[in-house]
Amino acid sequence: MQRTHTCGQLRESDIGKEVLLQGWCHSRRDHGGLVFIDLRDRYGITQIVFDPRVDEKVHEAAGHLKREDVISVEGKVEKRKPDMENPKLDTGMVEVFVSGMAVLNRADTPPIEIDGRVTTNEDMRLKYRYLDLRKPEMQRNLAIRHQVIKAMRDYLDGQKFLEIETPILAKSTPEGARDYLVPSRVHPGKFYALPQSPQIFKQLLMVGGCDRYFQIARCFRDEDLRADRQPEFTQLDIEMSFISQEDIFALIEGLLKRIWKDIFAIEIPVPFGHLTYHEAMEAYGSDKPDTRFGLHLVEMKDIVRDSGFKVFADIAKAGGMVKCINAKGCASFTRTDIEDLTAFVAAYGSKGLAWMKVAEQGLESSIVKFFSKDIQDLMMKRAKAAPGDLLLFIGDKNPKIAYQAAGALRLELGKRLNLLDQNKFNFLWVVDFPMFEYSEEEGRLMAMHHPFTSPKDKELMLLEKEPLKVKADAYDIVLNGTEIGGGSIRIHQRAVQSVIFRALGISEEEAKEKFGFLLEAFRYGAPPHGGIALGIDRLIAIITGNESIREVIAFPKTKSAESLMDSAPNDVSEKQLQELHIRPDIVREQKNVVFNKLVDVLQREKMQYEVMEHKPVFTSREAAEARGTELKQGCKALILKTEEGFVQAVVPADKEIDLKKLQRITLFKHLEMASPQDVKRASGCDIGAVPPAGNLFGLKVWFDKGVTQNEIVAFNAGSHSRSIKMRAKDLRQVVNPIIAEFSQ
Ligand code: AMO
Repeated sequence: MQRTHTCGQLRESDIGKEVLLQGWCHSRRDHGGLVFIDLRDRYGITQIVFDPRVDEKVHEAAGHLKREDVISVEGKVEKRKPDMENPKLDTGMVEVFVSGMAVLNRADTPPIEIDGRVTTNEDMRLKYRYLDLRKPEMQRNLAIRHQVIKAMRDYLDGQKFLEIETPILAKSTPEGARDYLVPSRVHPGKFYALPQSPQIFKQLLMVGGCDRYFQIARCFRDEDLRADRQPEFTQLDIEMSFISQEDIFALIEGLLKRIWKDIFAIEIPVPFGHLTYHEAMEAYGSDKPDTRFGLHLVEMKDIVRDSGFKVFADIAKAGGMVKCINAKGCASFTRTDIEDLTAFVAAYGSKGLAWMKVAEQGLESSIVKFFSKDIQDLMMKRAKAAPGDLLLFIGDKNPKIAYQAAGALRLELGKRLNLLDQNKFNFLWVVDFPMFEYSEEEGRLMAMHHPFTSPKDKELMLLEKEPLKVKADAYDIVLNGTEIGGGSIRIHQRAVQSVIFRALGISEEEAKEKFGFLLEAFRYGAPPHGGIALGIDRLIAIITGNESIREVIAFPKTKSAESLMDSAPNDVSEKQLQELHIRPDIVREQKNVVFNKLVDVLQREKMQYEVMEHKPVFTSREAAEARGTELKQGCKALILKTEEGFVQAVVPADKEIDLKKLQRITLFKHLEMASPQDVKRASGCDIGAVPPAGNLFGLKVWFDKGVTQNEIVAFNAGSHSRSIKMRAKDLRQVVNPIIAEFSQ
């Protein structure tokens, strides 16, 4: 039997019709001898009524229906009684009196709520994603995703673009994240890389004369995940020949205008504003500024350089930065508010947060005395300070930290002051990115976008002498503080490409080995070309008003790149490994049980933490450097051997353990450092990689007092090249250690 209508379709004009509906029992109410069921499908909810006067048997059967049973009902559409009308539902003026029912499938009690009254934790939602997807808000997210992608296809089709697929099993691409690799069975020891983007292929399509290409492209990047990053995500990937940057801007503006018109029925003004990378960093401390509110950063280094406030004067003289934010009207912030913000900026590496309140008679704070009246006046003028304002200062010798901490502080203030207007859509092009950035870790220049990005013509002369000053024809598009896309005009001449490879320290052989086929292609007449890619998941998260892109992806992965529903990644059989020429013992060794356990607990407890991948570190000092944290924020998680077995003792990384003191506290007769073999045996980790969470591998744990005195702790999490950074008080909560004083 076919349904005559969906559950979202019936209106007053259908009153009197005999209909057949099919769907899920969303909820059931027994009321005055009648059974009311909200019948749900993708399209909506219809109230159906079981009345014994219509059919006694069917009414009796309805009494046994449970949530999520799948049923088929026949009945007559009636007008609801006036006091039963529900204007919130599209079908809310009518109900169906059921005369016949078939139960198509019974459902066990669902492990998560579908009617939205209870919020379920995200892990459960991901484990039972197929149930989670039944929720009307998830259906809406997927429907909007479909509409947006359809609008993209229609728009680009109208602009003469061809949709062309590029390979998934391919060679490593240059987007700068780690590759996901696929071992080849046929070619032992060789690997395909899943594409981080179709970058090289789309350029080759231009050489191939395709002129205008697009693709809804799945991209794969093995990088640290956040709310707006997934290991596999979707781009609208675009490439065009014989164009300029402005042509790409106009195309994307037209596309976004069309999407906003189709979905919100609003006209967004075009063209969008532009900021150079330099302007964005100076005023917002970010290359993806949220321009919905002000609170701009103001540079004070030239003013405070000659003040008596040594911290700022030293920073200014060392070429650092002193950024000020005028928190308008925030002089009423309490000491606790400011302490809170100080802890907040500490997580971004700032060593402190100086503040001054603006009163009628001038600036007030414990540090004001170090600034002469003239300097105070200059600061107030530059910050446009008025009585009632609060000036917040972040200074750092490392400009990167100053930008990052001040930029994050600005956003945090924006949130606390309720300045993020959800109904505003501020689009912005960020242009003139530097061509290169210096990587401390690699000790060399890296391409800020990718190595095929064209330097600005007139800057080519700087390439050899002052490469960090060279700007590129690269651009990002930003919406309300999220980078929703990025692209560039490409190099299309072999000679220029060679110069860039040289600047990046990529030898000719290496270039040939990695990108030889692209360079070869450029020999045969490559047209000038350029392109862009929009992050579809991010765009749709914003359109649907969601913070996390996981809400707009049908089957997303967790922050630790797992799929809780199907348990991917999972173990595979030894036979499969053998066929792929992979030694199972290596695989086993690399499985990081401790790390996974820790992350599981942190996720379960909904704690904030950051996973950092870095070069392998073997001392606390190296670790602090690789993580960009202070030495004292690290900790030494030691495994000790006692007459009763192993225990763990944790001291701050800038201190040493005092074994005698600890022995007095613990009352063990024997207490000594465990050997590397014993460390491995007790914790499953190599020495130096043990996290300070011995409880996870069954050990009793002592924390020296100093460990929890810092706001933040950072530690190796089961591997020399992976750390976790989190709040010390959260660590204390998950480990539940005995706290004592035993460091020196
Ligand atoms: P880029 O690396 O800037 O450029 O990526 C383009 C856009 O894709 C989105 N994005 C992501 N979304 C979710 N999860 C991720 N892990 C993730 N990484 C990136 C962002 C980003 O702006 N080949 C170039 C494009 C070009 O030059 O044409 C590229 O991929 O919104």
